[in-house]
Amino acid sequence: MADYEPVLLKNISLEGSTDLKVYESAGGYAAARKALKMTPDEVTEIVKEANLRGRGGAGFPAGVKWGFLPKDREVTYLCVNADESEPPTFSNRVLMEKDPHQLIEGTIIAAFATQAQKAFIYMRVEFHEPFHVMQNAIDQAYAAGYLGKNIFGSGFELDVFIHRGAGAYVCGEETGLIESLEGKRGCPRIKPPFPAVEGLFHKPTVVNNVETLCNVPHIIERGAAWFKSIGAEGSEGPKLFCASGPVNRPGCFEGPMTITCRELIEGDGYGRGMRSGKEVKAVLPGGISMGVLTADELNMVMDFDDPRNFGLLGLGTAAAVIIDQQQDIRKVLANITRFYSHESCGQCTQCREGTSWMDKIATRIADGVGRTEDLDLIVDVTKNMGMMPGLSICGLSDGAAFPIRTIVQKFRGEFEAYIAEQPPTSTLRVLSTFN
Ligand SMILES: Cc1cc2nc3c(=O)[nH]c(=O)nc-3n(C[C@H](O)[C@H](O)[C@H](O)COP(=O)(O)O)c2cc1C
Ligand code: SF4
Repeated sequence: MADYEPVLLKNISLEGSTDLKVYESAGGYAAARKALKMTPDEVTEIVKEANLRGRGGAGFPAGVKWGFLPKDREVTYLCVNADESEPPTFSNRVLMEKDPHQLIEGTIIAAFATQAQKAFIYMRVEFHEPFHVMQNAIDQAYAAGYLGKNIFGSGFELDVFIHRGAGAYVCGEETGLIESLEGKRGCPRIKPPFPAVEGLFHKPTVVNNVETLCNVPHIIERGAAWFKSIGAEGSEGPKLFCASGPVNRPGCFEGPMTITCRELIEGDGYGRGMRSGKEVKAVLPGGISMGVLTADELNMVMDFDDPRNFGLLGLGTAAAVIIDQQQDIRKVLANITRFYSHESCGQCTQCREGTSWMDKIATRIADGVGRTEDLDLIVDVTKNMGMMPGLSICGLSDGAAFPIRTIVQKFRGEFEAYIAEQPPTSTLRVLSTFN
């Protein structure tokens, strides 16, 4: 988009962008100073009015979530979800690695609005560089008096801690994250109660994604109307998108949620087209867990609503995996089933068994010993798991079902052709896989 003015990534190419002085010389911390002169409810109202929807995957409006906190609470915690374990998503990493003070400023404002005096940044352990950059920025903010007691002379105090996770996908789920922060296995909790009522250490807790919080200072500084002028109704504000795979310029990009998947792949400000000789076969546009698009479906708008028109679960993390025509769809499927079968925490039978059955089926198809009935069987398994049919504690199993179901349904002809080409002796090997 030629006329799009970057907001979230505007500082990342500045020399020394991680430094407090550079951030302040670009206008940083003005929004936090402004917010801390308001009342917490006024700050929440502006964020509500802007309709800032969560960028962590579910798209729940941040201001509404903050408003769910009980009025009579004594303690509130803020958890910053920096687990970013959805393949192939890396926009939180870019924000933390290149502009850590933007996240700290968003955290201060969100903590003030929710009256949290302790904020925990839950970060995946593989993020070595972001960890060091964030910790250094937090130290700078404390030294400047922007964290700790009496921030900007407002009387408000906030301590921020980084907690490094141990590397499980499910710890990105907000209650898995809370359990992990409490020092337990990251097994998601049954809801209700939701974290806003009973979260970390059983106290009212808000969990927000890194990108969600990075939007907050800009909303306070420039207003809800400005925020809503970007994008379209229901999908307002700046958004980060990732593109991975055989495009000319893989990376993390910013734009409005009016771009299409095709624009993300081909646009000048985005992926700049497929590398020579490559053609799109399929795209997983929202991380892997939202489902797949075929090459004929690239006109899908990368917003919160349009993905459902294409049979997808949602926008997810808006990180696209682009798969070219040379790739074997059976291997794509088996790669995805292996991931979910490994990452299921095992609490819910349909998720624990379902992800593992799907992996067995997909693996035998990829190994050239599948049967046409396997395609029906695997789709059937996907229809009997997840929160949507009311069978699971968390959304991991919906996230497993959608890509697997849509890949098999949308590429069925290709699977059938592979199965038809298998040598007849493969049937004997099929029988042995049932033992
Ligand atoms: C299996 C699973 C993994 C998740 N991983 C992440 C993650 O890595 N980062 C994240 O922000 N949200 C993740 N979420 C979504 C969170 O549960 C939660 O909705 C989000 O952190 C709320 O923040 P937001 O409202 O600002 O988006 C995950 C959800 C599920 C079901
Ligand atoms: S749906 Fe899967 S990952 Fe989520 S709690 Fe149940 S078993 Fe664990």
